[in-house]
Amino acid sequence: MGSIALNKRISVTLEKWISTSKHNAIKSNNETTLSKVTAKHASDFVMSPFRFPGSKGRAIKYIRPFWERINHDEYREPLFGGGAVFFAKPKVKFNWINDIDRELIITLKVMADPVAREQLIQRVTSEVATKERFEEIKAWKPTSDIEIAHRFFYINRTSYCGIMKQPPWGYHPKKSVPPLKWGDRIRKAGEKLEGVKITQYDFSEVITAPPTGKTVFLFIDPPYYHSDQKRAYTHSFSIKDHYRLCKLLQNTSYYFCLTYDDCPEIRNMYSWANIHPVSWRYHTANSRKAKRKMGRELIITNY
Ligand SMILES: C[S@@+](CC[C@H](N)C(=O)[O-])C[C@H]1O[C@@H](n2cnc3c(N)ncnc32)[C@H](O)[C@@H]1O
Repeated sequence: MGSIALNKRISVTLEKWISTSKHNAIKSNNETTLSKVTAKHASDFVMSPFRFPGSKGRAIKYIRPFWERINHDEYREPLFGGGAVFFAKPKVKFNWINDIDRELIITLKVMADPVAREQLIQRVTSEVATKERFEEIKAWKPTSDIEIAHRFFYINRTSYCGIMKQPPWGYHPKKSVPPLKWGDRIRKAGEKLEGVKITQYDFSEVITAPPTGKTVFLFIDPPYYHSDQKRAYTHSFSIKDHYRLCKLLQNTSYYFCLTYDDCPEIRNMYSWANIHPVSWRYHTANSRKAKRKMGRELIITNY
């Protein structure tokens, strides 16, 4: 499992960037205080139904100020994964989520459809989380979308850290969410997905497509530059992909917020943008609490 960062905890505040003039210039007149905005949109928060290596689930409170600074009526997330940010943030008028992973996208579409969603809920809540069933489901070759979603969701909830590529068994009877509770996660997430554009393109298509709304905001969370990503992700990034993404962002007229591992390569690549270093405390799946180590992450914006 190596360096896959899990259970990240950020240990420094973002006051540094909040006080910079560049950011203040973006603040609109009707911007309310962060606490008011947070309270107002508390009901929009939904927990991602997925477990995902590199999920931003634990970093939401640090990413939130970056989306709240931009009044946008169109939101795009081209590298969706578990979509922790989409599920946490309020929906806007136009929402577009995308990932190259076919099974993930089929599962999201099933969840977004009220009829298919209920069928999926029925299937997965009658499941048992055992190693034997896990092996059976892994070997299963689903033929319909509902079957693909069933298999994807089951493996995601029972594999080690939600890993979908050659998934190892990882369900813990006392610590893991039991199948009976999976339905609630699917229903809440599915309701939020209704009316959202869901596609399976290369990220470039989503970044370069013309606007539908007045102001487009992109949240982008690529696989880390340095990581054991080939083991964690079904679809990882090559060095070429990292540069391709950088070039597109350099040329976009949309606002973007990008998260990355803090390393010299990414700092050089994005020297033209605003780089906000954030310290994260994380541990790899193999480490005990005592062995947790500090990692560093970058939040990169063009505003
Ligand atoms: C780090 S994960 C996103 C995690 C997500 N932010 C979360 O909170 O769970 C990166 C995602 O990029 C997707 N991906 C990789 N290459 C892609 C490509 N060329 N186009 C679109 N998506 C891609 C992967 O399938 C993976 O789901």
